Amino acid sequence: MILQRKDVLGLEDLSAEEILGTLDIAGRFRAVFDRPVRSVPIMRGRTVVNFFHEPSTRTRISFELAEKRLSADIVNFSTVDSSFKKGETLRDTAENLAAMKIDMLVIRHSSSGAARYLAEVLKCSVINAGDGAHEHPTQGLLDIMTMRQRLGDLRGRKVTIIGDIAHSRVARSNIWGLTKLGAEVTLCGPPTMVPGALAKLGEHVKVEHDLKRAVADADVLNVLRIQLERGAGKAFPGNREYHRMYGITGDVVRGLKPEAFIMHPGPMNRDVEIASEVADGPRQVILDQVANGVAVRMALIYLLSGGDPGALAGGAQ
Ligand code: CP
Repeated sequence: MILQRKDVLGLEDLSAEEILGTLDIAGRFRAVFDRPVRSVPIMRGRTVVNFFHEPSTRTRISFELAEKRLSADIVNFSTVDSSFKKGETLRDTAENLAAMKIDMLVIRHSSSGAARYLAEVLKCSVINAGDGAHEHPTQGLLDIMTMRQRLGDLRGRKVTIIGDIAHSRVARSNIWGLTKLGAEVTLCGPPTMVPGALAKLGEHVKVEHDLKRAVADADVLNVLRIQLERGAGKAFPGNREYHRMYGITGDVVRGLKPEAFIMHPGPMNRDVEIASEVADGPRQVILDQVANGVAVRMALIYLLSGGDPGALAGGAQ
């Protein structure tokens, strides 16, 4: 078994073998996308609930498409159209869901730890779709899948993550996943967003506040969104100042190694953390990340529901 666990709450919990095994299955599901019929009947009769307590475009639609392509029954609900509005607690909500006999819950929540809390309360599997500033494991997996498609083995590869690392669940999942696979991670941004203490996350993690030095020998730049809704705007004087100091512009990209490429988890603040000429340019792989997201989520849902990787030999049937 590749994933002998009930829940996926973060890449901190997963071993390198679990990460690589899941990505192998994701690669097989990715092959299904090029077929005229993109769905497979392997989750027929299983019920997945998507509970989004925070706005989302990519993650919500990607989970929904993954579940549909696996032929699962799905239910979507969000804070705005549920009894959360009437003051119902997370625990009561969870217990009501459990009473309806669901097989899996996908949760995005603004509070770090919400996914773990539900995993402890519920008997069904829980997948964390992003909890506060803690982790966003499926984003971490799809980022790593995109890097491995271009670089192969990540041992010794240099990944520079730029932006509001302190508030970023994407950064945390990238750091855990990448270092488990042997990559060297450099964290870059203003000291208010990248405290030096983050280097304590591991011997393969370093902090570099100077953008030029941070990207000089990078194989990959993973550019993070400035999270204005989490108060990131107070950490620097203004968007123009941030762009001037840390924005990934055409000039920055022209100074990179020739084969280095640019990633961004979305949604982008164009011309703040990333210039439009880079976001739309030949070195970015942003929409490949999005496509890989569906495959990664199909793989996780399949594996957590007890799917047999052997049954997928030669491609998802
Ligand atoms: N990358 C990401 O989590 O995007 P959404 O907030 O749109 O889901």
